[in-house]
Amino acid sequence: MSIRKENAMARAFATIAFTPAVRSQQSRMGSADGYTRFLSGDETSLDELGPQEVDFITARDGFYQATVSQTGWPYVQFRGGPIGFLKVLSSRTLGYADFRGNRQYISTGNLSGNDRLSMILVDYPNRRRLKLWGRTRLVEGADNPEILDQLHDPSYRARPERAVLITVEAFDWNCPSHIPRRLTIDETHQEIAALHRENEALRAENIAMRASTVSGTPPKS
Ligand SMILES: Cc1cc2nc3c(=O)[nH]c(=O)nc-3n(C[C@H](O)[C@H](O)[C@H](O)COP(=O)(O)O)c2cc1C
Repeated sequence: MSIRKENAMARAFATIAFTPAVRSQQSRMGSADGYTRFLSGDETSLDELGPQEVDFITARDGFYQATVSQTGWPYVQFRGGPIGFLKVLSSRTLGYADFRGNRQYISTGNLSGNDRLSMILVDYPNRRRLKLWGRTRLVEGADNPEILDQLHDPSYRARPERAVLITVEAFDWNCPSHIPRRLTIDETHQEIAALHRENEALRAENIAMRASTVSGTPPKS
């Protein structure tokens, strides 16, 4: 990734996140000068997702999304699904099928009044996380069933109600600090299977070595 591109992305995120109040805190704490370069850069490719982001997003099975309520309260909810359920529809657009849940419709209600959305995606085993900011469009499945066909895997047991389409305005990679390493049950099974295979190979090697010690002939490699 070129420095020019890195600066451009940094500017998009800083333009949104570094409000005057945030800059004032940075000044108070002595970090404002270090972040000034984030606010100057090339604006031409502010918000395009690259291959690194696309690979990361499509490997996730969940994310946390924040919306803003009518009364100004932040609201965070988890969205989960099969790996890749958050789809990259273009270098600036994400989409996912919103499943029926407890029918409180807090995120949906919030987004109907304020289309701003922020999300954080975490890869716990590899300690990577990506923050995204975007504007959202909700498309009800009843109005446009084709869009849910595009976004929803029918083999996954859930009832999709609407499509959430997100125009990405900015993103930023976080540092790996303080991300606890944890595996999903599927990832744990994969780790155990790999250890099992290694154990089998060592066991076979051990049997062959024992046989060669007894017979005096070297084991076949
Ligand atoms: C039967 C059922 C019950 C649920 N109950 C809760 C609940 O009590 N609290 C909660 O936060 N999520 C619950 N969920 C998950 C939410 O409904 C789901 O995450 C949904 O997307 C919430 O969206 P919202 O928070 O934007 O309203 C439930 C899901 C199902 C399918």
